Amino acid sequence: MSLQLDRRQRAMLAEMGIQVFEPPAAGGPSAAPQDACEPARAGGTAAMAPGATKTELVAARVLAEPARAGEAASRPGGVERMSWDELAQAVAGCRACKLCSGRRNTVFGVGDRQADWLIVGEAPGEKEDLKGEPFVGPAGQLLDNMLKSLGLGRHQNVYIANVLKCRPPGNRNPLPEEVAQCEPFLRRQVQLLQPRIILAMGRFAVQSLLGSTEAIGKLRGRAHQYLGVPVVVTYHPAYLLRNLPDKAKAWADLCLARELMRPQPD
Ligand code: URA
Repeated sequence: MSLQLDRRQRAMLAEMGIQVFEPPAAGGPSAAPQDACEPARAGGTAAMAPGATKTELVAARVLAEPARAGEAASRPGGVERMSWDELAQAVAGCRACKLCSGRRNTVFGVGDRQADWLIVGEAPGEKEDLKGEPFVGPAGQLLDNMLKSLGLGRHQNVYIANVLKCRPPGNRNPLPEEVAQCEPFLRRQVQLLQPRIILAMGRFAVQSLLGSTEAIGKLRGRAHQYLGVPVVVTYHPAYLLRNLPDKAKAWADLCLARELMRPQPD
């Protein structure tokens, strides 16, 4: 599938520092790529890792997995059997860790509950805590722009969730025990959504989903797995706002994610 870009999408890509080739003039010599992912595929940093077989990477639909041992007793029981609405209620009432005392709202997630794409961020910040919705600040604007460039949106074939559903005070990093307490909620969201691809943004999403503390730079560019779903690792949009040159890498990661969703030859 080739992505045809309109003027707005081109502007967004330009804003992200992504160069998009113009289509050739009528009768012109060479056929330049019109797909916004072409530059990433041709020379980007997220080429498929050598040795990764494509068939391995095709989304296997999510199968329920047994809960991990050692889960906290203070979280509502039976999370692994909850419906979307039950889960949202359980998150809203959760008092499993100290973060509940400082929150104004829990931030469950937003988007299309039939989506193919799941985007996983870190934790709510101040704006998200106020609104009860993930990624509504500047990092969210960048995320929205990146999604639009792929013809996606937070309500269009995308679901967005965080590792933590409550804001850490002063936007400090999530603590390992907070990540562990919240993990069953994210796992149930994955089971209910059955996405075809997960984009893990930043090190806490990676820690929660993949159990890895390796640097993002070491993990990106290939597919990992969570509950049978391919996971692409990328930089967190807040990091990208501070490190503009890495936006091109994040774009390449999005393109890799899209590539993994294409029908694969047997
Ligand atoms: N950063 C995140 O990881 N999640 C949000 O919801 C907002 C900022």
